Amino acid sequence: MATQLNKEFFDKEAATYDAKHERTLEYLIQKIRAQLDFIGVEWASEADDDSLDSGADHGHTTRAVRLLDYACGTGNVSRALAPYTTQCVGIDLSEGMVAAYNQRASNQGLSQTEMFAYQGNLCDPSDPDPPSFAGPTFHNFDVAAVGLGFHHFDDPELAAARLVQRLRPGGVLVIIDFTPHGPFAGAHDEDGEHKHDHPHAAAAQTVTHHGFSEERMREIFEKAGAGGEFGIADLGAISLPGKDHGGKEKRRRVFLARGTKL
Ligand SMILES: C[S@@+](CC[C@H](N)C(=O)[O-])C[C@H]1O[C@@H](n2cnc3c(N)ncnc32)[C@H](O)[C@@H]1O
Repeated sequence: MATQLNKEFFDKEAATYDAKHERTLEYLIQKIRAQLDFIGVEWASEADDDSLDSGADHGHTTRAVRLLDYACGTGNVSRALAPYTTQCVGIDLSEGMVAAYNQRASNQGLSQTEMFAYQGNLCDPSDPDPPSFAGPTFHNFDVAAVGLGFHHFDDPELAAARLVQRLRPGGVLVIIDFTPHGPFAGAHDEDGEHKHDHPHAAAAQTVTHHGFSEERMREIFEKAGAGGEFGIADLGAISLPGKDHGGKEKRRRVFLARGTKL
């Protein structure tokens, strides 16, 4: 089960995550914002308003638009979409990541109703409806997004279904992740056994899926009930710390998939 490994790994990573991935995170924010029309939500603010470039600004809104940022980490997807939404609700397995998310939101002067994250797991097969996520804060979202979290989940199909349950009818599911790629160096030895002595082995072991094809994503969206107007956009390539097998640079192509809850 990757869940406990993810929790432990990202609790340790939380303090340095933003600094370590600063350029990649900023790149992805710009790429996500370039897809606002493609995502197809009726945003709270106009997508081309230059004054919103610097980040969250919930000041001039015309309608309520609520985002569920699942596996939110320190909040990169929330930061990308905050200017165009009225409320960002983060959920993450890692307490450390949640604390970092809330620290950044508070530093930006945002209230809890504007941007706040909670520790938890909506993807536990034995817990279909966790009581701590029962209230209205956690339902009827206009958009539910997972940024670079899907490849860490034990069961992406289950995750998608659980997120779609939290969307309003007509709401949009957004998954940002990697196209198919080979395993990290350090993930396995030549016999396919886990290696524990490689510096990036801990990171490698949090990864349960080596990317997703368009066909797989389409199936996941359709099965979850968000196959309406399914589409996938290319967000370009990013480099990650560590090396792939054969000592190659760890480059990943990133996609953004979207589908409407039917
Ligand atoms: C690579 S980080 C991405 C964080 C953030 N979304 C971003 O775009 O920077 C992956 C995140 O997924 C979280 N995670 C892994 N498995 C999870 C699960 N089952 N439920 C919720 N969060 C999970 C980790 O704690 C971590 O914060």
